[in-house]
This record gives sequence, structure tokens and C-alpha cells, in this order.
Amino acid sequence: MRLLSVRLIVSLILGITLVSAGFSYYDVLGEKRALRNDLERRAEMLGESLVGNVERSWNAGSDIVTNSSVPNNAPNNVPNKELQRLVQRFGNREHLLGVVIYDRQGALVAMTPELTKTLTVSPPPVMQAITQGHEESSFARLGSVPVHILALPIRREDEVVGGLAVVHDVGYIRAQIVLVWRRTFFRVLVQVFLIVLITLLIVRWSIAGPIAQAALWMRALRTGKISFRQELPDLDIFRPLAREVATMAESLSQARNAAENEARLREAGESMWTADRLSVQLRTRLEDSHLFVVSNREPYIHQRDGKTLNVVVPPSGLVTALESVLNACDGTWIAHGSGNADAEVVDAHNRLRVPPEDPRYSLRRVWLTKEEEEGYYYGFANEGLWPLCHIAHTRPLFRAADWQHYQDVNRKFMAAVLEEIEKVVKPVVLVQDYHFALLPRLIKEMRPDARVAIFWHIPWPNPEAFGICPWQRQLVDGLLGADLIGFHIQSHCNNFLETVDRVVESRVDREHFSVLRQDHRTMVRPFPISVAFTDDDAAGNHNQGFDYLERSALMRSLDVEATFMGIGVDRVDYTKGILERFLAIERFLDKYPSYQGKFTFVQIGAPSRTHIKRYHNLLAEVEAEADRINWRFRSGKWKPIVFLKRQHSHQEIEPYYRAADLCLVTSLHDGMNLVAKEFLATRRDERGVLILSQFTGAARELRDALLVNPYDIDQTADAIRAALEMEPEDKQLRMQRMRKVIKEHNIYRWAGNLITELCEVRLDVPEDVQEKVSASASGA
Ligand code: G6P
Repeated sequence: MRLLSVRLIVSLILGITLVSAGFSYYDVLGEKRALRNDLERRAEMLGESLVGNVERSWNAGSDIVTNSSVPNNAPNNVPNKELQRLVQRFGNREHLLGVVIYDRQGALVAMTPELTKTLTVSPPPVMQAITQGHEESSFARLGSVPVHILALPIRREDEVVGGLAVVHDVGYIRAQIVLVWRRTFFRVLVQVFLIVLITLLIVRWSIAGPIAQAALWMRALRTGKISFRQELPDLDIFRPLAREVATMAESLSQARNAAENEARLREAGESMWTADRLSVQLRTRLEDSHLFVVSNREPYIHQRDGKTLNVVVPPSGLVTALESVLNACDGTWIAHGSGNADAEVVDAHNRLRVPPEDPRYSLRRVWLTKEEEEGYYYGFANEGLWPLCHIAHTRPLFRAADWQHYQDVNRKFMAAVLEEIEKVVKPVVLVQDYHFALLPRLIKEMRPDARVAIFWHIPWPNPEAFGICPWQRQLVDGLLGADLIGFHIQSHCNNFLETVDRVVESRVDREHFSVLRQDHRTMVRPFPISVAFTDDDAAGNHNQGFDYLERSALMRSLDVEATFMGIGVDRVDYTKGILERFLAIERFLDKYPSYQGKFTFVQIGAPSRTHIKRYHNLLAEVEAEADRINWRFRSGKWKPIVFLKRQHSHQEIEPYYRAADLCLVTSLHDGMNLVAKEFLATRRDERGVLILSQFTGAARELRDALLVNPYDIDQTADAIRAALEMEPEDKQLRMQRMRKVIKEHNIYRWAGNLITELCEVRLDVPEDVQEKVSASASGA
């Protein structure tokens, strides 16, 4: 670095000096030329007025002046005396060395005394002026004296009778030039110094500064102190470079982590699932095939706001989970293009590569009309199936028109899937969720060689509850087209099998958890979904202490003062039990008043499906309830509930998870609930308590949480107190055990198991059908 600066300074000095010296040289030449021109002009004026006088005296001429300085060879008819007086009169001008007059033969006629020592012979310009009859001007030397000689012919009636020379001493021009050079030298010196200084300062501020900042930032990245996706510092002109470096650093760090993990696992003989292990597994399992995922919600939504194009990641557990799987295996994700700018960024086949900052897989967008979205998504899926499957006491609405749209959209997605898998032999298709109950059968009817699984992300209720759906038979039949149906937990599988038993003609094999219907076997299995949590030791953050500063900064940013803090993160959905949670907080403060002024609960609530009246009203109710409770208790800078009503990114949520004393998950009914697992994954400090509804899928695995019945307000209030007063060792032990569970049962294991199971299914495809699809897939 130092060598670089020396080189930079030397090159700057040399460069600027050369340029300045070049310009100065031209300036000096100009100055010299101006001085000479000026002198020539003055000599000319003097010469011309002198020659007139001389000619007049010469023409009148009689007596000869005797002058010791004038040699005696002057012609007798020339008026030497008069001329001598004349030249002497003119002889005392500035820088004038003298004036001399010669006759036609070059004999001296008159001369100012100062010239007698230096001018011993007639100078050549005078003789040239006499012979050629016009003025001559030249710079010359008289001995050591630099002079300018202007010679003019002297005429009598057009005949040249002699010559006159005006001799100037030009030594002053040289002195002047030396002075200019000296001034220039100092100017160049100061100029070089200032330019070098300013350049160095600019380099320091606009280049060295950002580089140093970038280096610090990259070190923080390398050591895992900040996240790769964290906002880049303002690196000015290096921003594009920094973005590339971040991506590269991320890949390198992932590779290093993977290698370290592999080594650790080999040593420990463990079988933990990582992204890399999943990719290897998928490559082996899929052989030449490809993975296709179908879901309603897309992982990236492009939204235009005036001239700005924003990319939004929706608040969906499904999206969070599947993103890691697609990243690991470069598959294709087929989903509804719901953003207002989605169509702007796709290619001719409605595809684009994502994630936008580091493309790793393809997203195929399917377009729906407003009516289709209204009927299929808002209507049948979210006003019908969602409340049907969640026991949350919101009545499902079944409209025939919605059902029609649901069928149409399932067919539309079938067409998109068939297009995507057209050239793929034995494709593996993972259909997601309650939006596509009919899709498995639709795909299998067209492509029996495809392996199709559907994962149901929400609970499956008991057959009595499901039985109120007028189209339960069609839904169950559509699902049974799949080779594998996955639920989060065993009890959802059991409920499903019971429903199948009651609704359609089939043979349910409870021993192997499968259904045989019309010669097609469907396996039904639990696959508890999870988060992308691997080995935090690899990140070097194990047991990192709880950061009080981070907590107080966070509270300050919310303009609240509190000693204890709780966190809740949900889509604002009636299944999440947010109102019950607020009531429990109120009860807690009533029951344990010493916590008033001390405990604040931060609820991050992403508005969701607000087009549906029930959701729209709920959002207002949640806000009103928070206001009511705050109004009751608030004092000074403290209030019990902070409701942050907007979607937050994962990066924004993490600091809240890390800073919280407890996390409240009080769903009235939930398939899994990934918030609980995300909270645990974030707590590298092994502190913090999870209060978890017993009606979530997660409660089956996370036995060390404080399990509550969210309808039991008192129980939840007591759990809050228990969490805040729990012994640190107890907290740590619980946290360690739960983190171990989700580390071992992470999203990679979920995907690995699901796909392995699906690939192991024996497909009984008739030979002729197989040949046909193989031929069309290979383009024959
Ligand atoms: C649940 C569902 C997902 C859905 C998510 C968000 O987790 O199982 O399928 O994507 O909620 O809901 P939204 O309707 O906004 O996609």
C-alpha cells in the first residue's frame, strides 16, 4: 500500500511537472517574442524619425565636424558635426546602446560615444541596408553584448548615400526571461505540490476510504459478523464491485462451511442434513431428471411503483422453506405471477431466473385473471378450504362459482406443468398445498411416468369437520392421484386416511399408510417441515452472548423503554390467535403488576389476504385491541404492546428474535408454524424462551417449549411470567435441546426425505405408455 502511494506520488509529480513545464515553456517563448517585438517597434520608430533628420542635415550639408571619436576617413561633403550632434541627441533612450552613421562605402560618419568601444567595424546589416536600399533588422552580439541592430538606408533624392544603425542593448530581455523562468519555476513547484495534495486527498476520500470500508465490511462478512444479504455500506463507485464480491464471498463461505461440516460430520459419524448433502442426494435420486415445484405463492414478486421496480419476498412459511430446496438443486418453480410488474421481467416462456441477486433456479409464472384469482384463491382456497382445515371457528364459505374457478385454475396449472415437463423423462413434481388438491390426478392422467407428490402445509381436520365440504369427494380423489401425500404430523395423516375411508371407494392400508384406488397406490406420510438451520458452530458464533445494546437500540428505535421484551411474528390471520395473545398479555400485567412499566411485547404483523372481509376486519380488531390495552396501561415512555403493521424481511425480523426474552406463538390451529423454529434457529446465545400453542404441528417436536392452550388466557399469562422468571440454566437447557431438534430435522432433511420417498415409489406405467412418453420427451 505504502509502495503504491510512493509510486502514485512520483508519477503525479513527474506528470504534472512535465505538463506544467511544457505550458510554461510556451509562455516564456511568448514573453520573449513580445519583448523582442516591442524592442523592434521602438527601434523602428526611433530609426525612422532619426533617418528623416539625418537625411535633412545630409542634404543641406557643408562643414565637417572634427570629433576624436570619428575617424578621419569621413567624406568631406558630409556634415559630420551636425550629424554627430544629431546622433548624440537621440543617443540616451532606454536600452539604446547607440546610433551610428556610415557613408555609402561603409566609412564612419557619426557615432554616439558609447558605441566606440564595441563597434569597430560597420555591422553587416548596415551594409545590406545600403546595398539593398531597405531597412534591415537583426539580433546579434557585439563582443559579449547581445544587441539588436536596426539599419536604415540614408537617401538623397532617391539615391542611397549612406546608412544608419540604431543599436539596442538586449541584455534586459534575457534578464527579464530569467526572471520569468524563476517565477515559473516557483509557480510550477507550488502547483505540483497543491495538485498532488488535492489528488491524494480525493483518492483518500473517494477511493481509499471506500476501499478501507469495503475491506472492513468484507472482513465482517468473512468472519460472519454480518449477513451476506445485509445492506452494503455506501461504497460509492465501488458499489457494483462490492455486490459481486458479496456474492462471491457468500459462495466461498458456503463452500467453506459445507467442507467444514462434511469433515465434522465424517468425524462425528453424524448424519446431519445440509444444503450440499441435499444437492448430492437430489442429483443421485433424480438422475437425469429434474425437480418441479408447484405452488400458488411465488417466491419473488415484482412490483412497480412509478419508475421503481421492487422485488418483494412474500411472508409465507412455504416460500421460506422451499426456497432453500430449489437453491440446492436448480429446479423449476411454477407459481402464480401476482406482481403488477411480473410480466415485465419474464422471457417468452414466462420464465426468469431467481433469486434476482444470485440466480440459481427457474421461476415459471402462470397468469390468472382477476375473476380466477377471486374465485380460486380468495374464494375457494381461502374462504373455503382454509377455515375448513383450521379449527379456528371461522365458518367456511363454499360457493359453486368459486369451486368452478378452483377447478379451472388447477387445469391451468396442469397445462403449465405439462409444458415444463414436456421434454423431461420421469420428472419429479412436488405440488404444494391446498390450492392444488386436484392437480396431482390431472398431471398423472397425462403423464403417468411423472412422480407426483403433494405436500399439504395446513392441518387436515377429522372426517366430520372435512365432511361439510360439498366437493370433498372430488378433492380427495384429486389428491389420491399423487404417488405420495405429505402432511406435517402423523395425526393429519390419520385424519386424512379416515376421510378417504369415508369418502371414496378405496383400500386403506393402515399398516403401510397407503391408499389403493383404481390400481394406483398413494403413500401417506408425515414430513415435519422446518427451517434451513444447519450447524451454527460453523459460523463461529456459538454461545455468543446476549446483546443488551442491540436490545436497547431496538427499543429506542420503537420509542419505548422497557426492561423485558417479547416478540410475535405472524401474518395477520385469525388462525394465529393474535387477539388471544394480546388478552394474555393484558391478563399477565393485571395478575403480575410488578411487570407494568417493564414488559413490552412487539407484535410484527404482516397484513394478509385483506381483500377478504374477515381478514380486513381482523386487522382493524388487532389494532384496536393493542390500542385499548396500551391506553389502559401505558405510562411515560413505556407501553405494553408495539404493533408493527407491515411485512418485515427476514433480515429485519432477526434482531427482534435475538433481543427478545420470549417468543409467543399462540396459533389456534397451525399445520407446523415456522416462526417458532426460526426463533430457535436465531438464538445462538441459547437464551430466550419459546411459548408455543399446543395446537401447532411444531408442538409435537418442540417439547421443551412452554406449551399453552391459547384459548386459556390465564395459562398463557402464567407462561409469560414463567418464561421471564425461568432460571438461566433451565432456559439454556431447553433452548439447547430444541435447537438440536431443529438442527437435526431441518428443511434439507424434510426435502431429502420427501424426495427420497417419492423416488422410491414403484411406478406401474404400462410399457406402451412409457415408450410413448419417453419418445416424446426425447423429441422423437
Ligand atoms: C400458509 C399456507 C401457504 C401460504 C401462506 C401465506 O402458510 O400454507 O400456502 O402461501 O400461508 O399465505 P398467502 O395466501 O399469502 O400465500
